[in-house]
Parts: sequence; C-alpha cells; structure tokens
Amino acid sequence: MKIAMIGTGYVGLVSGVCFSDFGHEVVCVDKDPNKIEMLERGEVPIYEPGLDALMAKNVEAGRLSFTLDLEQAIEGAEAVFIAVGTPTRRGDGHADLTYVMAAAEEIARTANEYVVIVTKSTVPVGTNRRVKDTVSKANPALDFDVASNPEFLREGAAIDDFMKPDRVVVGVENDRAAEVMANIYRPLYLREYPIVTTDLESAEMIKYAANAFLATKITFINEIAALCEKVGADVKQVSKGMGMDGRIGNKFLHAGPGYGGSCFPKDTKALARIGQEHAVPMQITEAVIKVNEEVKRRMIDKLLDLCGGSFNGKTVAVLGVTFKPNTDDMRDAPSLTLIPALVGGGAKVRTCDPQGQHEGEALLPGVHWMDDPYTAAQDADLLVILTEWNEFRALDLSKIAQTMAAPRMADLRNVYTVKDARQAGFEAYDSIGREGFAE
Ligand SMILES: NC(=O)c1ccc[n+]([C@@H]2O[C@H](COP(=O)([O-])OP(=O)(O)OC[C@H]3O[C@@H](n4cnc5c(N)ncnc54)[C@H](O)[C@@H]3O)[C@@H](O)[C@H]2O)c1
Repeated sequence: MKIAMIGTGYVGLVSGVCFSDFGHEVVCVDKDPNKIEMLERGEVPIYEPGLDALMAKNVEAGRLSFTLDLEQAIEGAEAVFIAVGTPTRRGDGHADLTYVMAAAEEIARTANEYVVIVTKSTVPVGTNRRVKDTVSKANPALDFDVASNPEFLREGAAIDDFMKPDRVVVGVENDRAAEVMANIYRPLYLREYPIVTTDLESAEMIKYAANAFLATKITFINEIAALCEKVGADVKQVSKGMGMDGRIGNKFLHAGPGYGGSCFPKDTKALARIGQEHAVPMQITEAVIKVNEEVKRRMIDKLLDLCGGSFNGKTVAVLGVTFKPNTDDMRDAPSLTLIPALVGGGAKVRTCDPQGQHEGEALLPGVHWMDDPYTAAQDADLLVILTEWNEFRALDLSKIAQTMAAPRMADLRNVYTVKDARQAGFEAYDSIGREGFAE
C-alpha cells in the first residue's frame, strides 16, 4: 500500500517511519527544504529516541523516502495524511488551520485518482468537513473520501506509543474509507490493539477531550500541591494515595511547574474557543488554562523567595529547558516563562539541557549554555531543576553544593527530598507541594 505523509514534524515523521515499518510504501513530503535535505542525508531533524535507527532501516528496505514534491508523493497513493502544525491563532485562541487547508488545496490540485485524505493534525470539530468541501470545490472531478485519524503519541516515547497504542481512533463517513484505514492499521489490528471507528466529528472531539482531560488532571494536582504546601501535606504521598484508586489512575498526577509543550496549551485554548463559538462554554477547561498560568507564576515566586526577594546580581543555574525529558521540543516550555523572568530581574542564568540547546539558544537570549550540570552550578546562588532528564536524577549533590556560592535548590520536579538536600549541605531547598527548608 502506498501512503503519502504531508509534514515531517514530530507527528508526521514518526507516523511515516512507523507506517513504513508496518510494510507500507511511504513518501514523506515537507515544504521545508532544510528538513528534506537532512532526511535525505539520513539525519533526523528532531530528537526522538529510536527514530534514527527505525528510519534508516526502512529507507534501506526501500519503503521510505522524502521529497519536497507533493505530486511525486501523492502519485499512486491510496491515502494522503495531513500532519502539519495547527498552532494557536494569534489573538483568539482558535487553532490556526492555514496549514491544514493549504495542504488540502494542494492535494486537490495534485490528486487524480481515488484517495483517502486523512487528517492526523489535531483540528477543531468540523475541520474534516471543511477539508472535504475545499477539495470538492478545487477539484470537482476527484473521487475521494476524508478520514479523521487524530494522533495520541507522546514525544520522547513516540515510537512505542505509535506501535503499541492504547487505541487508534478513526473517523469516517463510509465503508470504502474505513477499509482503506483498516488496511493501513492492519498490523495493529492483528495484534489486537483497539481501533475505535466513529463519525468524523466524534473522532475530532475525542482528541480535544482527551488532551483537555489530561491537562485538567495535571492542573488539579498542581493546585492540590499548592494547598499541600500551606497545610503541611506531601503531594507525592497524596498523588500515590489518590492514584491507587482504579477510578483515578496514577498517570498525570505528578505535580510540577505547570504543563507546557506543543499540545496541551494550544489544545485547551482551542477547545475553550470551540465552546465559546457554540455557546457552550468549556468552563472547566477555561479554569484549567487560568490556573496553569498561576502555577507558572507561583514558580517565579518560589525562586524569588530562595533568592532573598530579588534576582538582581544573582547567578542561577537552570537544569533542563525542554518541556519534558527525551525531547528537544521547546514549544510552550515552562522555561520560556521562568528564564526570561530571571534574566529580566537581573540574574545571570546558566543552563544545560541534553537536547534543548539547539532550539533553546534562539528562544532564550542572554542565557549561558553549559555542557554539564556541575559546571552550570559552579558559583551559582541557586540551582533550579526544571526538566527531569535522567541525567539530573542522580546528581552528586554534595559536589554541587560545595562549588555553589550559595547552595540553594528549587526542585520543581520533586526529584530530590529535603533529606537529600540537607545531607548534601544545601542551606535551602524548596520543591512542589512539600515542605522545604531554609537555614
Ligand atoms: N507533537 C506532538 O506530540 C503531537 C501529538 C499529537 C498530535 N499532534 C498534532 O499533530 C500536528 C502536527 O504537530 P507536530 O508537532 O508534528 O508539528 P511540527 O510543527 O513539528 O511539524 C509540522 C510540519 O509540517 C510542515 N508543513 C506545513 N505545511 C506544509 C505543507 N503544506 N506541505 C508540506 N509540509 C508542510 C512543516 O514544515 C513542519 O515540518 C498538530 O496538529 C499537533 O497538534 C502533535
């Protein structure tokens, strides 16, 4: 089966590579010549564990190729996937569908035989119908169907998530399109991964509802964490006790510096916007967006407290800038709120991140990039653990404390404990939803 994949970002590239590993012939197309040049050289433009090896294997097998030429990609394809970005539109929170609709028009101009146009991008309810109308208008003679196939992979674990999904969601209007989609996902179906087949609108809604729910769960525990700090409870124990309840589950109950990343911030805003447009306000989601901003602001207050009320003249070492470990993605990362507040307040910021420097350099002006946490912490007045990369989980804290000007730590991922910090010789330690200390 031949598949064309439009967009070679975090979702398009992973999906394209994995579909080729299923045995399909996949041509990935992107508008960005730099990305295509890199891919043709066998280089992966993003950091995603395991992707380079799987990509090389399938290119070698002759099933996977890359091109700038949409026509070449679509030629003979039974399905064309749209996996382009849907960022927040400036001003109103709506998902920006410019790239999706442009891709739909390009497909309409290029395709000349039956094809299923599959939207993998996260799009507001009704978008697949808009894609259908756009294609019909642009090419009335084209025989085609549309399908909604939202993606649930997590960056950092994307290949596993794609190959072993909790479920695959497919929204279609007829059996013909359903059959094409079933053929694409046959390897997963044979391994008994659930395929949920729905109408177009429900498939689109499932994605937003799922992401908004997860963002709500994180925000809920972050709010509980703030209360834990006031009443002397330990949010880690609270999460554990809550998560053991089968109705609640233990995932997404880790308190932290507020959610970020390429999906939750924009998808919660888009869902709120869809609700407003249909006069059904998404009040819970709207509250989640607001509380998450407050959580991020509270982090700045924590750092200020540890710096004695002012960042001016302080040296702060920040470990981790990506929005989570095992990715180089910086979109809406908490570091983009925290670090500018530090720099703006007059602090000298040194940072290190196993994969974030390439993206981060342009986004975080005025920051000094160091090779490892130990050099970053040298002579610092405050150590901030912002992203819980494995590299930061087993630090020699005594060594760090000895070289700091003032050994103080803000552990915004609850990686360490008061005991660890005291034993290592820190004079102050604060974390999320737990009691800290300051001598
Ligand atoms: N990143 C995630 O973890 C994730 C998870 C699930 C769903 N999604 C959704 O998937 C979609 C894509 O996200 P992403 O993170 O992969 O985006 P991305 O920005 O990393 O990649 C998008 C790619 O599409 C290319 N592109 C745009 N218009 C094009 C066109 N007309 N023709 C060819 N290429 C074009 C861009 O050059 C870019 O390389 C979004 O809707 C997102 O919400 C993302």
